[in-house]
Order: sequence, then structure tokens, then C-alpha cells
Amino acid sequence: MKIAILGFGTVGKGVYEIVKKANMQTQNLSVSHILIRKNKIRTMPEMTDDMSEILTDKDVDVVVEVMGGIEPAHEYILAALNHGKNVITANKAVVAIYLKEFTEAAERNHVKFYFEASVGGGIPWIQGLEKALRIDNVNSISGIFNGTSNFILDQMSKKGQPFVEVLKEAQKLGYAEADPSADIDGYDIANKLCISADIAYDIDIKNHQKLPIFGIRNITCEDVKYFQKRGLAVKLIGRSHQKDNKFDYVVEPALFLDQTLEANTPDNYNLISLNGETIGKLDFFGQGAGMLPTANAIVQDILDVKERKSHLKRDFDKRMEYCPDLTKGDYL
Ligand code: NAP
Ligand code: HSE
Repeated sequence: MKIAILGFGTVGKGVYEIVKKANMQTQNLSVSHILIRKNKIRTMPEMTDDMSEILTDKDVDVVVEVMGGIEPAHEYILAALNHGKNVITANKAVVAIYLKEFTEAAERNHVKFYFEASVGGGIPWIQGLEKALRIDNVNSISGIFNGTSNFILDQMSKKGQPFVEVLKEAQKLGYAEADPSADIDGYDIANKLCISADIAYDIDIKNHQKLPIFGIRNITCEDVKYFQKRGLAVKLIGRSHQKDNKFDYVVEPALFLDQTLEANTPDNYNLISLNGETIGKLDFFGQGAGMLPTANAIVQDILDVKERKSHLKRDFDKRMEYCPDLTKGDYL
């Protein structure tokens, strides 16, 4: 299976690294293209600055978009789907706006659009949410959806390090967005909440700009210490409830008692929860940001594409027995 990676930053490099791992060799995966910017020097044979090379290469099965931002990510994802490629992205900013357009384009072209890594980094949250929905109405979603802000608040409370210093560390560790204001002002959580609510409540929020979103920019080490003395931890969270096709939604810093799961969510971890009629509260916990956890979620999606392809092939071979006129082009 041939993979094209669009964008070779933190997550793109992580995907490349995992695909090259010795234990992945049996999976027959290979990275055939890496899209870089036009002004960049090609340091690897897979690198190209020409998107049309990827689109017109019939052997490319999967396009992994990890450039970030809205354009040209939106344009390239659509083009790849329309050229019959499966697409996987970690880019929540583009998914929060265009999820419906992407899933419809994928359906039209008989391919799949995957975005597991766009919410919760390495946590299989989208899968979990979709599984819960097979049985339940999900009436609320909440939690710590951002690794960078959680890392900042955690380090401020454990080490007393000032906000700006810890933010720099989060950037070095590859947790923060290219523009980290999305992490600290709550917009990254808003995107993730939009995507989750779209799926959970079967709505298309698209534009969350008018919804209440508060960040952690003004929280100081003194504030954190003050809360700590009172047995409280401050966390940046997103919450949403649904009832009778109406929903509420907020991103804000909130206080949690010392003993709660939220208060004990460390480093770059996320703690995301859903509430279903029969399952009750279900919590998902794991690394919500960082190169390898995020890349892991993407490679899991790649393996799903591979599995789907071999199912289709088996199905095709079986049908050929009964209908020898069938051609691969009609079917695969
Ligand atoms: P990053 O380190 O900034 O990498 C993005 C890469 O894409 C950079 O190398 C950038 O090149 C390149 N790029 C941007 N626009 C391009 C274009 N038009 N053509 C070719 N290359 C282009 O970002 P990242 O952390 O890997 O994140 C990538 C995506 O994954 C984002 O959508 C992010 O929200 C999402 N994500 C990240 C994490 C994480 O922990 N880092 C977790 C989950 C999801 P330049 O350096 O030249 O700009
Ligand atoms: N910047 C994001 C975060 C990456 O810190 O959570 C994962 O989506």
C-alpha cells in the first residue's frame, strides 16, 4: 500500500517513523510521496512539491494530510478524495468546518475519510463515540481535549514554572499548534468539541465562532497555587449537552477537586467523556498530543484502509467466480 504524506512536521515525521518500524514491515506499507512547500529543499527521495504528482499516481492508496490550517488543506483533501484516494487527517481546524463535505465526497468516490487523530491525539475517541452511538443516544460530551493547555497548567502547579516558559516547552515537545494561541485561547478545544458534537448529535455546527470560548492566557502561577491550597486543580475543558435536538456548549477553565480524574490528568494527557443512555459515563484517557501518539492514531487508520482493501479484493474474487465479466475497475 502506497502512502502520500502532505506536510513533514511533527506528526508527518511520526507517521513516517512508525511505518518504517521493523514490526510494520509485514504490513507492506510504504511512503511513496512526502509533500513539502515549494521553497523547501528536497532532502529525501520521496519528497515533492507537486500535489498533482500525488493525485495522478494511481498507486497511491492513501493520502495523509498533516499540514494543518484551512487552505490548501481543504482543497487537497477534496482533490485526493475526488481522485479516488482514501484520506486520513489529524487537522481538526479543517475537519470542524468541512466534515460533511469530506464524508460526502468520500461516499461519492467509494473511498473513506478518516479523522481519528483530529480529536484526542492517540486516544481512539471517534471510534469509541461511533460505537457508543450504535446503541445509545449520546447526551453529553465533556473533558480535557487539549494536551498543550493541560501540560501548561500541570507544570505550573507541579513546578511553579511561569506560563510563557511552559508554553515554550510544549512547543519544543511538539504538543502545540503552529500558532499556539489556538491551544491557550480555547479554539483548538472548540474545534474538537464541534467535531465530536457533529458526530454525537448528528448536526453540522460548522461555525463555532459565536459560541462561548474562554482560554487560560490570564491564569498565573499565583492563581494555580491559590487553588492548590484549597484542594482544587484548574483545567481547561470543553462541555456540551444535548436535549430535544438543542445543545449547549462551552470552552472554559474549570476547577476540580483533588481526587477527581480531571485533577489527576497529567502532562499532555486528555480525559474525554461521553454520556449515553445505557452505557452511562464513559471516560477515554491517554496522550492527547505529541508526535508518536498522534501518528499512532493515523497509522491505525492506514491499517483500516488496508483491511478494507483486502475485504473488497476477497469479495471481488468471489464475485468473479459467478460473474467473470466483472472488471477490477468496476469494483475496486
Ligand atoms: P507542524 O509541525 O507545524 O507540521 C506541519 C508541516 O506541514 C510543516 O512541515 C509545514 O511546513 C508543512 N506545511 C504546511 N503547509 C504546507 C503546504 N501548503 N505544503 C506543504 N507543506 C506544508 O504541525 P504538526 O504538529 O505536525 O501538526 C500537523 C496537523 O496535525 C495539524 O493540523 C495539527 O492540528 C494536527 N495535530 C497535531 C498534533 C500534535 O501533537 N502535534 C496532534 C493532533 C493533531 P513549514 O514548516 O514550512 O510551515
Ligand atoms: N495542539 C493540540 C493539543 C494537538 O495540544 O492538544 C493535539 O490535537
